[in-house]
Formats: sequence, C-alpha cells, structure tokens
Amino acid sequence: MAAGQGGKPAPPPPALTPPAQVGVNQQIRERLSGVKYRIIVLSGKGGVGKSTVTANLAATLAKMGYSVGVFDYDFHGPAMARMLGVLGAQLQAFPMGIFPVTGAAGVKVISLAFLLPDEKTPVIWRGPLKNKALQELMSNVIWGQLDFLLFDLPPGTGDEALNIAQNIPDVTGALVVTIPSVVSQVAVEKSAEFCKQLNVPLLGVIENMSYFRCPHCGEITEIFGSGAGEKIAEEEGIRLLGRLPLDPNVARCLDEGRPVPLCAPESETTRAFEELAKKLVEILEKGGEGGSG
Ligand SMILES: Nc1ncnc2c1ncn2[C@@H]1O[C@H](COP(=O)(O)OP(=O)(O)O)[C@@H](O)[C@H]1O
Ligand SMILES: [Mg+2]
Repeated sequence: MAAGQGGKPAPPPPALTPPAQVGVNQQIRERLSGVKYRIIVLSGKGGVGKSTVTANLAATLAKMGYSVGVFDYDFHGPAMARMLGVLGAQLQAFPMGIFPVTGAAGVKVISLAFLLPDEKTPVIWRGPLKNKALQELMSNVIWGQLDFLLFDLPPGTGDEALNIAQNIPDVTGALVVTIPSVVSQVAVEKSAEFCKQLNVPLLGVIENMSYFRCPHCGEITEIFGSGAGEKIAEEEGIRLLGRLPLDPNVARCLDEGRPVPLCAPESETTRAFEELAKKLVEILEKGGEGGSG
C-alpha cells in the first residue's frame, strides 16, 4: 500500500458494505415481517403471460379470503396497475412510509407505473439504479399483514430477478410461467437453474395458453403443441401446477382492469385459476420445498 504524505499510511478504503446498507436490509426485513408467503413469478421468455398469471392469481387468492399484495418490478412494461384497475394512481409518502394502492379484489399494489408520468414513458434505467429503486420502495412500503406478496418481473433471469432474490429476505419460492413449446421448455430449464443457483425453491410451473376450447362446439385445440408441461414435470422433476386455457376473456378483462375471476367468474379460466390457487396453498402449507412431487 502506498504511504500517504508525511510518511503516514494512506487511510483504508471505505468499507464495501457501509452501515447504511445494513440499515436498508434490516428495514426491508421489518417492512416484510407481516408477509407470510413471498413469491416471485418468473419466465424465461416474454409474452408468455407472466403478468396475466400474477394479476389473476392475486385476485383468485383474494377472492378465497387471503390478503394479497403485488409488487410490479417490471421497469419496461409495468402492467399490474392496468390489470388490477389502478392505472394513474399516485403513491403517497407519509412520514411513516408509503401505502400501497388498493386494486381489484382488494389486492394491494405497488407498481413502478405509479412513479412514471404515463404508460408510454420509456424507462432506461441501468442495473444498479433498478436495485436502488427496489431497495428504496421495499424499505418504505407499509404492506401490513399479508398472506401473499407476489412479485411480477420482466422476462428472463436478468438484473431484476437477481435483485429480488438478493434483497428480499426469505423468498418462499418461485412460480415459472411458460407456454407449451420447445423454446419455452428451454426457458423453463433456465429458470429452474436460476432458482437452484440462488437457493430459491421452485414451487412449480404454470402452463399458460395450453389449449383453446371452441366456444361453439367445445372442441379443444392445443395451439402451441401439447404435453410440454407434463414433459417438463417428468424429465426435470418440476411440478406442473396447472394448465390455463387461451381465452379471449383474459385480454378483454385485464384491459378493463378487472381480473378474470371478477369479470368472468363462471369461465373456464376462473375455474383453472381456482384449482391452481388451491394447489399452491396446499403445497405452501406442506412446506413448499422443491419443485417436484
Ligand atoms: N391465457 C390467455 N388467454 C388469452 N390471452 C392471454 C393469456 N395469457 C396472456 N394473454 C395475453 O398475452 C399477452 C401477454 O401477456 P403478459 O401477461 O403481458 O405476458 P408477460 O408478462 O409474460 O410478458 C397479453 O396481451 C395478454 O392479454
Ligand atoms: Mg409482464
């Protein structure tokens, strides 16, 4: 080490983990202390319906009587505010913290969209800033008592997924959303590997857009191929949590800010989400470990 002026040794470099960082981690832990299950929703690929699944699953769990929150951590396409009917809401900061906005079915929502002037504003933030925004929000949001907090992420296993895994204490597990096709199967394998590396339990795979049922004759067409979910379950030992139909109600309802369980309560999609939610609760109550079984 080079000596400083006057023969004195140079001062040591600043600590890599300044006390402020420890403070942030502790604050996040305290803010989340009333949250029972912290679940991240992942996908290796965009457009497979991750946000759709998050919004509908949140509303389904809320309808079953659970208290549910959603944290929308997709900087490039924050969708939760629109899908849960609270687009245009503003976050209000109080001395004691920030309260989430109450959306459809009573789901508590924090979305990056609340920080942007409008939906069209592009967000060009780099990794460290995204991490800072996550820490800033998570150390200030007052979630209160929640049974579930779902984290909606952008596609892939990039900065955001890593940030969540590293900043959120005691992540209960991850759900991986996919569509039945080979490319998607590879994406699931990647997500599974990611979970393993970060020590986040993989709760299971949700196969979205699995089939389309003709509204006239009831015949089923498997548009993106068949059996991928089962194949993944068999070959990778990852639990298939459910298969969701391709349903025109989905886009229509969510565009109106009403998740399917509220807007089309008798639909096949609503029933599929109810089954999925029940299965998830069962797994969590048993301990949630491992994606297989
Ligand atoms: N099961 C489904 N049936 C019909 N449309 C769907 C279904 N799931 C998703 N979509 C539509 O597909 C598009 C992409 O879904 P989205 O949830 O935004 O994907 P991601 O969050 O994975 O990028 C949206 O327009 C959504 O309405
Ligand atoms: Mg999305």
